[in-house]
Amino acid sequence: MKLPGLADVHVHLREPGDVHKETIRSGTEAALAGGFTTLLAMPNTHPPLVTLAEFRKAQRRASETALCDVFHFAGGSADHLAELPALGQEAVGLKIYMDQTYGPLRVDTLAALMACFKHWPPGKPIAVHAEGKNVAVAIGLAAAFNRHVHICHVSRKDEITLIAHAKQRGIQVTCEVTPHHLFLSELDARQFGPRANVRPALASQTDVEALWAHLDTVIDCIATDHAPHTLAEKLGPDAPPGMPGLETALPLMLTAVSEGRLTLERLVALMAVNPRRIYGLPAQPDTWVEVDPDDRYTISDEGLHTKSGWSPFSGRTVRGRVRRVVLRGREVFADGVVHPPYAFHSE
Ligand code: NCD
Ligand code: ZN
Ligand code: ZN
Ligand code: ZN
Repeated sequence: MKLPGLADVHVHLREPGDVHKETIRSGTEAALAGGFTTLLAMPNTHPPLVTLAEFRKAQRRASETALCDVFHFAGGSADHLAELPALGQEAVGLKIYMDQTYGPLRVDTLAALMACFKHWPPGKPIAVHAEGKNVAVAIGLAAAFNRHVHICHVSRKDEITLIAHAKQRGIQVTCEVTPHHLFLSELDARQFGPRANVRPALASQTDVEALWAHLDTVIDCIATDHAPHTLAEKLGPDAPPGMPGLETALPLMLTAVSEGRLTLERLVALMAVNPRRIYGLPAQPDTWVEVDPDDRYTISDEGLHTKSGWSPFSGRTVRGRVRRVVLRGREVFADGVVHPPYAFHSE
């Protein structure tokens, strides 16, 4: 069975700064192994992508080492507001961290939030890490400044209900949900210990059910929030929040299709069509993913391509395997192996 190349609008590639967790190379290997041919990379690197200079460095690095298409977000920062109009010409979108999460990047005063919205060019989305009441703040800013706001990793019933209302009023708001918020709950968190630490935290069964109930209507995309940290870091003191997800998202969603929880057509909308529409991503000709929808296997930490080397879904049996990925007419992944990128290595 053939699917279009998937697009993940929320990944952390950790370059520059945290290359022991992931690199652009290893992260894009994981992407291809998971059926993704386009990634949107987050700006909470070290240093963060809040200036044109750092932004361009990251893009150059991606053009030299990425194995699939990578677009970067610019980060909103109260100290670099003057850079936003120029960043707005080159970045795929603006990312604003309204709540505490991994890394120091944050915008937490109303004045700075308004300045970000004012200086960001209309037409490109503003993605927000907003939890609880901050979802309402983000929606209010979208309405007041007539900007498109994309709410990252929605995890709670109240949040998705509010987004449904805002959409009904015609406010320019879209949203994404992660596989870990669809397939794991706070019950799993107790079993997993510190590995389950993620922002937003894994939620209640009621929240999980509310997300599933809105999958066909209010939720625009599935995004992994692939947030690689090493197991040693996760199990050590001050465990960082976040979990890898690029290699497990499609098998999990295909399993849900086989169980009748959503249609294959909806899966393609959530993982390919809508992400491309929301961020205005260019088409990738002669690009597809071959999956075997009936192949059952058990997810394991062994053989993952992400440098972080573990998955919160290890031990879970899924139905649906990525067999082969063709990007612009070239086979880039087949039967577990990412092909050597001849074109990238030649010079
Ligand atoms: C992300 C990370 O590790 O960069 N962590 C997480 O828990 N989701 C940051 C983020 O997306 O909030
Ligand atoms: Zn976040
Ligand atoms: Zn994230
Ligand atoms: Zn190589």
